[in-house]
Amino acid sequence: MIKPHGADVLMPLYVADPSARESLFNEANNLASITLSSAAAANAVMLGAGYFTPLLGYMNLADAVSVAETLHTADGLFWPVPIVNLVEGADGISVGQRIALKDPNVDGQPVLAVMQVQAIETVSDQQMDAMVEQVFGTLDSEHPGVAAFTSQGRVLLSGPIDVLSYSYFQSDFPDTYRTAVEIRSEMESLGWQKAVAFQTRNPMHRAHEELCRMALEDLDADGCLVHMLLGKLKPGDIPAEVRDASIRKMVELYFPPNSVMVTGYGFDMLYAGPREAVLHAVFRQNCGCTHLIVGRDHAGVGDFYGAFDAQTIFDERVPEGALEIAIYEADHTAYSKKLNKVVMMKDAPDHDKEDFVLLSGTKVREMLGNGIAPPPEFSRPEVAEILMNYYQSL
Ligand code: ADX
Repeated sequence: MIKPHGADVLMPLYVADPSARESLFNEANNLASITLSSAAAANAVMLGAGYFTPLLGYMNLADAVSVAETLHTADGLFWPVPIVNLVEGADGISVGQRIALKDPNVDGQPVLAVMQVQAIETVSDQQMDAMVEQVFGTLDSEHPGVAAFTSQGRVLLSGPIDVLSYSYFQSDFPDTYRTAVEIRSEMESLGWQKAVAFQTRNPMHRAHEELCRMALEDLDADGCLVHMLLGKLKPGDIPAEVRDASIRKMVELYFPPNSVMVTGYGFDMLYAGPREAVLHAVFRQNCGCTHLIVGRDHAGVGDFYGAFDAQTIFDERVPEGALEIAIYEADHTAYSKKLNKVVMMKDAPDHDKEDFVLLSGTKVREMLGNGIAPPPEFSRPEVAEILMNYYQSL
């Protein structure tokens, strides 16, 4: 199988051994504690699950600044997005101390991880702006990822962590949430050597479905890993449980058995477009996937990124050999009225604009919001039904 990023084996930071867990929980009861931001909690969950191999914890300021600027840590590891723990203040916490990190997203704020504090650094406004601009391509606070990142404190706590839970992801999505370790071993037992990952934060409409089918065929892949984001989204995006139900229905009805694995990961959406696409590639390689589908406006929001910036970044900013996973570049996919099927627009050069019905998640959400069921060119009827039921319940 394809190797994890920067390591020979996955390095999940979740502590599974029962006696080690018990002693960490006991220790945590007597430690100073800090409640994490949702973004930092999501980072811990990803580190715990092995998705962020080979990182051992939260980045220090030098690494975070270097990653934002150069896509490499200070000592040269390829990494596209700072993985940080930004807090409001660190009164009473000193370097060398161990602290308990509490989960902001679960009632009672249970301990999510224990951290060995290696550095406490204040991020200057200038450093913060530079990081935000480099990672998100904008400083505009209308950008939901920029708003979430900058709403955190300016004190950066860094150091290795031991992770004690997968937050709410495992309990809320028991059938769908998977760690990178679980996905690797499931693919291994299915004998998938060539596997293509499909990132999504949407219910799967016809364009999404056909992208998976086209990638499976074009790559002659053994299987497709549908890997949905289960964490926080911007208002208006469709909640994970509704997405999950519609994706499962679509896969059950329209794909051959055992060709698609429906799974999810616990992370908040960054909406960082190109940079997030590269992060997506890193952690799909860690899952054991050989390819990642990157289509139009991947991980984008509004008009912040060019439609194919998330593809060109792989040529422009990812050095040869930095990643083993390859990108399956998808052109704008649309329904052809002439051919009565979903096609990539580049594959239908004889078509005019009017020959296509353009498919987009945003458009479908608009229709649903107005009580209109998306037509079959957009969504499978069984998917449309699940989505209509959800919108009517609002
Ligand atoms: S994302 O934020 O998770 O990327 P979404 O779930 O809508 O959003 O997209 C999942 C993947 O499908 C991304 O790679 C995206 O580029 C691709 N995609 C979605 N719609 C289209 C389309 N009409 N044409 C081409 N690619 C698309």
